[in-house]
Amino acid sequence: MIERIEQLRVQAETAIAGASGSEELEQLRVRYLGRKAELPRLLRGVADLAPEQRGPVGKVANEARQALEAMIEQRVAQLAQDELAHSLATDTIDVTLPGSPPQPVGRLHVLTQTTRELEDIFLGLGFTVIEGPEVETVHYNFDALNHSPTHPARARSDTFYLDEDVVLRTHTSPMQIRAMEAHPPPLYVVIPGRVFRPDSDATHTPQFHQIEGLAVDQDVTLADLKGTLLSFARTVFGERREVRLRPHFFPFTEPSVEVDVSCFHCEGNGFLKDGSRCYLCKGEGWLEVLGAGEVDPNVYAHVPLTEANAPGYDPETVQGFAWGLGVERIAMLKHGIPDLRLYFENDLRFLEQFG
Ligand code: DAH
Repeated sequence: MIERIEQLRVQAETAIAGASGSEELEQLRVRYLGRKAELPRLLRGVADLAPEQRGPVGKVANEARQALEAMIEQRVAQLAQDELAHSLATDTIDVTLPGSPPQPVGRLHVLTQTTRELEDIFLGLGFTVIEGPEVETVHYNFDALNHSPTHPARARSDTFYLDEDVVLRTHTSPMQIRAMEAHPPPLYVVIPGRVFRPDSDATHTPQFHQIEGLAVDQDVTLADLKGTLLSFARTVFGERREVRLRPHFFPFTEPSVEVDVSCFHCEGNGFLKDGSRCYLCKGEGWLEVLGAGEVDPNVYAHVPLTEANAPGYDPETVQGFAWGLGVERIAMLKHGIPDLRLYFENDLRFLEQFG
């Protein structure tokens, strides 16, 4: 029996010495020292042995058990240390590496950016920003803005009609009337917004954006308009810019003008230093940027006196100017964007270049 115990001990010791992980050691512990293992069973059977055998067998078996327990404990500690040393050697963290890149965040569309930039300029000049409906009545979109019953812009080919009297607004100008109905003079407002026309090619999209301006007070003249737009032009296109007013026609302004800004690419010369023609202004030296004018007295006549706007807009006492500019056009000029459709195709390679 003692021989068997010695045999078991050697067997176990060899196995424990060769174990390569803590899991394997645990299996060996169960195999050699667990409740059902042979050595503990022998130990439990010592009491049944003949009296003269109990002492020597008990002693050898106990020693074997203690030796194996100690050996396992030592191997466990040794393995833990090896594992730690290994991970210290291999799991090195290079704290000088850059951190995880930040998640990409969205950005404002270039048209939103441009709109806000322009709003800021006019806010700085004392204007208030208001907004209005994209679905308008014929009354606000055309009639109250002094369009004759036969004005070509009313044609089905030029305007999206939802029914006889309701359209998608073709410009932000109807908000001139709504603003005057809702507020008394003096009134200084800008109205950004989306407008719609049934056009679609490289220079026209069925949807685009305008910023309307309206200043009504007493004695607000064309010179005030020019000063306001000069300030706008210099903030957007540079301090050396000039503005030029050319006579034009709009139904709701009299006189009406088209407003040009001196070309920022050729400094208004029309040609570049190497003598070539400026591509941006096509040699003109001027860039057309918007339409404007003095509000036609007929327009005031279409603004009813209400509780909200008392004393109302009497054409004999109030005077003011208005303008309408295309946001797409301003951003195109500013950023050299070649095709209007780029704004609406949502190609990230284009959109990510702004902001
Ligand atoms: N509503 C005009 C258009 O869409 C632009 C415009 C011209 C607006 C002159 C104005 C203005 O307020 O005074 O073509």
